[in-house]
Amino acid sequence: MANVAIIGAQWGDEGKGKIVDWLASRADIVVRFQGGHNAGHTLVVGNQTYKLSLLPSGLVRGKMGIIGNGVVLDPEALFNEISRVREQGLDVGPHNLRIAENVPLILPLHSALDKAREVARGKHAIGTTGRGIGPAYEDKVARRAIRLCDLAEPETLSHKLDELLLHHNTLLKGLGAEPFDKQELLDRLLGLAPKLLPYAEAVWERLDEARHENKRVMFEGAQAVMLDVDHGTYPYVTSSNTVAGNAAAGAGVGPHFIGTVLGIAKAYTTRVGSGPFPTELFDEIGKGIGERGREFGTVTGRPRRCGWFDAALVRQAVKVGGVQGLTLTKLDVLDGIPELKICTGYRIDGEVFRRLPAGLAAQAKAEPIYEVLEGWTQSTKGARSWAQLPATAIKYVRRIEELVEAPVALLSTSPERDDTIMVTDPFAG
Ligand code: GDP
Ligand code: IMO
Ligand code: MG
Repeated sequence: MANVAIIGAQWGDEGKGKIVDWLASRADIVVRFQGGHNAGHTLVVGNQTYKLSLLPSGLVRGKMGIIGNGVVLDPEALFNEISRVREQGLDVGPHNLRIAENVPLILPLHSALDKAREVARGKHAIGTTGRGIGPAYEDKVARRAIRLCDLAEPETLSHKLDELLLHHNTLLKGLGAEPFDKQELLDRLLGLAPKLLPYAEAVWERLDEARHENKRVMFEGAQAVMLDVDHGTYPYVTSSNTVAGNAAAGAGVGPHFIGTVLGIAKAYTTRVGSGPFPTELFDEIGKGIGERGREFGTVTGRPRRCGWFDAALVRQAVKVGGVQGLTLTKLDVLDGIPELKICTGYRIDGEVFRRLPAGLAAQAKAEPIYEVLEGWTQSTKGARSWAQLPATAIKYVRRIEELVEAPVALLSTSPERDDTIMVTDPFAG
């Protein structure tokens, strides 16, 4: 048996959802282990497009979905998403979706604080999704979070809300935002309890059983290594660890259970939100990539910033994320560009770096060092085998493989589920 973890190797939106869905045909369980409804995973299956934020992508294949304790869960966002996908014909309920009883909840005060802080940051705003992710993780680490299991204990909930509101209302008032009323929040949570509690369980036990039964488990990452709270371009990051190592802590399994780690990267680079982006393009080529790649945020609707493939950055993500195989997506978006550039390192104050230094001032000064490769005029859109790819496209993929020091396991050539080329089977272990 081999399990697989899928993580983003750039700044998010690499196509994790598509790849998880494609691989999920051969898995039994798909687990989300970090992040929240800041994620937006798009799956295209025939004439249906599913946009998932909290639900594990395996549900589209009819597989069991688990939301692990490492996620921050907004109950209202969850129910909205469940209703939306039910309208698209998906069957989702407590029989096929299980949620860790110890998952921390996102409450309306978290997004209020997230937004108020972004306003206060002014030109230093992070460009968060405004969904309360950061404040919810802060509360978890500060040991004052309301967790799913608390909904079954009204008294516990009541006294935890006192502590939570003392903290949040002080902050919100200081930022000029409206404070929250305890009774209103308590009623809201107790109202959600009968709908939410049927999904709750000790998911670690289910995963332990799955291990004994040799079931295949996939861990679906959200965000990406360069948005990781430790390893990313801090402070322009999200508030969780996105590296594969966190799949164990965020689901309640041992590190050996995670299996093969696949890193997903686009054949170029994009970023939503603020922060350093050395290979960003401000010209017609960048605009063209954005248009052909339909680079608009699933969650925010904002245009994504586009740039050349940054091999130095992905190499770093491969190392710290524990990536054993790379999946390159959106190769088709580069069709027709005569010359392609790949960043192999940076020049900072005359010195050459093969990694992005951690300091903000150094990052801002990083000038990419480029290698130029020949592009291709033929279409790769929808290719399903190596044989259908032009020689220059294969050369481009092979060069990336060398530079990032990870073998390419899968290639994706369109949003459609089956437009995928398997080079090596990640489940083979
Ligand atoms: P995720 O957050 O990593 O799951 O990625 P998103 O779903 O936010 O963004 C990826 C976008 O690219 C989605 O709209 C996908 O449908 C689309 N996509 C995925 N793979 C490919 C591909 O190989 N080619 C093209 N053209 N689009 C793709
Ligand atoms: P998926 O799973 C791309 C970015 C936000 C912002 C920063 C912090 O679809 O790849 P947050 O709301 O998390 O506090 O915002 O992180 N961000 C993402 N960018 N894809 C995502 O998820 C993202 N989730 C958060 O734009 O810059
Ligand atoms: Mg996304």
